[in-house]
Parts: sequence; C-alpha cells; structure tokens
Amino acid sequence: MNHDELVRRNKAHTLTSWTAQDDWNPLSMVKAEGVYFWDADGKRYLDWSSQLFNVNIGHANPHVIQAIQDQVARLSYAYPGIATEPRAVLGEMLAEITPPGLERTFFTLGGADAIETAMKMARQFTGRQKVVTRYRAFHGATFGAMSAGGDPRRLANEPGVPWIVRVHDPYPYRSPLYRGRTAEEGDQALVDQVAETLDFEGPQNIAAILLEGYSGSSGVIQGGEVFWNGIQSLCRQHGILLIIDEVLSGFGRTGEWFGINHYPNVEPDMLVLAKGLTSGYVPLGAVVVSEEISAYFDRHTLWTGLTYSAHPVGCAAGIANLEVYRTENLITRARQSGKLLHAGLVDLAERHPSVGDVRGIGLLQLLELVASRESREPLSAFNQPLSEPMKALAASLRAQGLSTFVRWNMIFCTPPLIIDEPQLRDGIKILDEALAIADSYAAEA
Ligand SMILES: Cc1ncc(COP(=O)(O)O)c(C=O)c1O
Repeated sequence: MNHDELVRRNKAHTLTSWTAQDDWNPLSMVKAEGVYFWDADGKRYLDWSSQLFNVNIGHANPHVIQAIQDQVARLSYAYPGIATEPRAVLGEMLAEITPPGLERTFFTLGGADAIETAMKMARQFTGRQKVVTRYRAFHGATFGAMSAGGDPRRLANEPGVPWIVRVHDPYPYRSPLYRGRTAEEGDQALVDQVAETLDFEGPQNIAAILLEGYSGSSGVIQGGEVFWNGIQSLCRQHGILLIIDEVLSGFGRTGEWFGINHYPNVEPDMLVLAKGLTSGYVPLGAVVVSEEISAYFDRHTLWTGLTYSAHPVGCAAGIANLEVYRTENLITRARQSGKLLHAGLVDLAERHPSVGDVRGIGLLQLLELVASRESREPLSAFNQPLSEPMKALAASLRAQGLSTFVRWNMIFCTPPLIIDEPQLRDGIKILDEALAIADSYAAEA
C-alpha cells in the first residue's frame, strides 16, 4: 500500500483520538530505525517527539526485539496471580533505580491505569478521598486519570470523578501569580495558595497530591526548588501522600532517571511509570510504592486488578529497556544532548522574534511562540484550533521531514535519547526554516 491508500483504508474502518475524524491527516509509517521512520512512499522523517514522548531508546533496538521474541516463545502469558521471572527481575530493577524507599511495584498496561491504581492505593491506604492535582497537567484518558489532569483534554467528558481538587501552576512566563515576582517568589506565592486550598478542602480529607515529576504535554511548565520543597513540606505536615507521575518525564527524558531526581529533597510515596519503561515496544505501566504503603497492603487486600497486569512480555521488554539505558549510557547522553538542544533553541530564539519562551531540560524542551514578545500574546490561542501561522509552521516541519507535536503555540522538542549531535543540528536547522514563517506573523520585539 502506498501512503494515500494506507491513510484511506485507516480512515475507512478505524477511529483516531483527540480529533474530528475529517481533520485527521496522518503521516504513515512502515518502518523505523534509530531516530528515523519512513512513510509508505519511502519519505524519511526525523522523529523529534519520540512518537508520543515514549520511544526513548529509539526505534528497532535489536536487544529489546530479541528479548521480546524470546519471551513470547518461552512464556507469552501468565495470569497476574502467578509468579514469573520477568516480573521478579523487573520489580528488583525498578527498586534499584527509583528514589530510596520505593520498593515494590504493581504493573499495569500503560500510564492511565497506573495513575488510577496509584489513586486507588492512596485512597485505600489513607482512608481519605480527595486527590489534589494541577490544571496544566495530563495524567491519561480513563475517567479518574482524565479528571486528575486539569488539561482541557478533560473538558468534553466532564463532570469526571468528584474527588479531584485542582491547583494553579508554577508558570512564571504566564501566571498572574508570578507577575512582578521572581520565579522563586512566584513559587512561594503558589505554595502559599496551595496551603490555603488544602485548608479550605480539609487536609484530613486529602489522600494525595499528584504531580508530574517534570511537566510534559501540557507545556513543560515546571516549578523550581521552592515549589517542590513547599509541596513536600505540606504533604508531611498533613499526612498527605505525594504521587509523582513519571510516565512522560521518566527514563532519562530529563537527563536524570526521573524528573523528580532534579529535586533531591523530594521523597515521593509513589512513582507512576509507563512510556519509556518499554519505549513503546509493547505496552506496560507501573506504580512503585514506598515500604510503608507496601507493608499496609501486606495486611490489607489490594482492591484492584487487570487481566494483563505484570504481563511477562511487557516485563521482559522493560528489563531489556533498562539494560539498554544502562549499557548505552542513555541518561548521561540525554543530559549532554539536552545542553546542545537548549543552546540550539536559545540561538533560534535570539534570531526569531516569534519565539517567546524556550524552556525545559534534557530532551524535554519546547518553544512557545508569540505574536509579540512584548504582549506575549500566543501565536495560537490556548485550547483553540491551530491558528494559520501555526498551521503553516507545522506544514513546513512536515514537508521538511520532521515529525513532532505542535500544540496551540508550542513546538515540542523531545527526540529519542540516542540522538547524536549532527541529528540534533538537522532538527534545529529545520526548525530555523519553519520559524521564519512564524516570524512573518510576529511583531518585532
Ligand atoms: C504525564 C502522563 N501521565 C499519564 C499519561 C497516560 O499514559 P497512557 O497514555 O499510557 O495511558 C500520559 C500520556 O501521555 C502522560 O503524559
């Protein structure tokens, strides 16, 4: 099948997410290797988003493919009540790389059901009901997870679950709370506001605060040390659990094993994992919990379950991925390439008046585009269809063979961790050309 036929037949009998079907104008993909993939007409694309921020180790890694093939041949399925070797080994490996005190893992199929599991465990463990989350966050598309994410992706399915309480975001570039304040002062004002929200909601009713370890698809909007230390101390003060969602920011994406590792004083009670855990080779998610929580569930039934929990093939893919992160030194590589990427994006910002903000760390970075640097008016409005300039920019990226997410006024720069310097430079060069289009709509600063 060529590209057109492939797209036509996909559209005829399948549905896709987050868009009206008529607006779905997909790339096709028939082969992928390293940081590249090829469409059905043989055109090559640089995968600048790691697909859905998940193909961290790159495409077609032979070690992972072999591990999956071996596991399918040896034992392709066991129900979750059965002990298996890949499950034992992956549990041990996760206890090693996650922050101290996190010891035991419950495996799911992906991020959303891992978030659901974490929230259920928090509610069962504390006997409290509410979970506090951020507005600019995404935690998955099942009902509880979708309510937990404050991102507008939840709006069409509202009202969601009633026990979510949302707080505002550490967003120095746009939040009114930060206006006239340094980032640190803004973080403190936000923490004070969160403290007040907890008081209003009754801390005795709050099971957990759930935050992305490093903000991802809602816009890489990240608090600093003051924010994180403040949240940690509020949790301790009120006996509230801290659930850290590392689905997107985990496994080297930020140049550390986990996004939360950038804040050494923070001690999560649970870590939620997916995406880079298997780099998408097969589905797998996980919740890693503290000794205290796992001890509670030694004596109390864990009221949850999934047919495919701890799937042997998923666990084998997880083990092989962790081996690749280690042997290819990918966490350190992401840290180093992140510096190059950031320098390249800052250089673009200096030359292109449409770039309002460059932010992020490691290989989790983005550009926020503006109509005017002075007013900071976004080049495409929040939660609205793409503006003409952003559409033109996205079309240019695609035509030049770069695949990434362009959301409202944001361009995500999140390539696989194996990307090398020339490939990074290629991506930045393509962005350079596309930004010239956006500039023609933006006022000079
Ligand atoms: C931070 C975060 N949490 C949870 C999820 C949900 O993961 P999944 O799509 O595997 O259910 C996502 C997905 O994009 C995510 O970015």
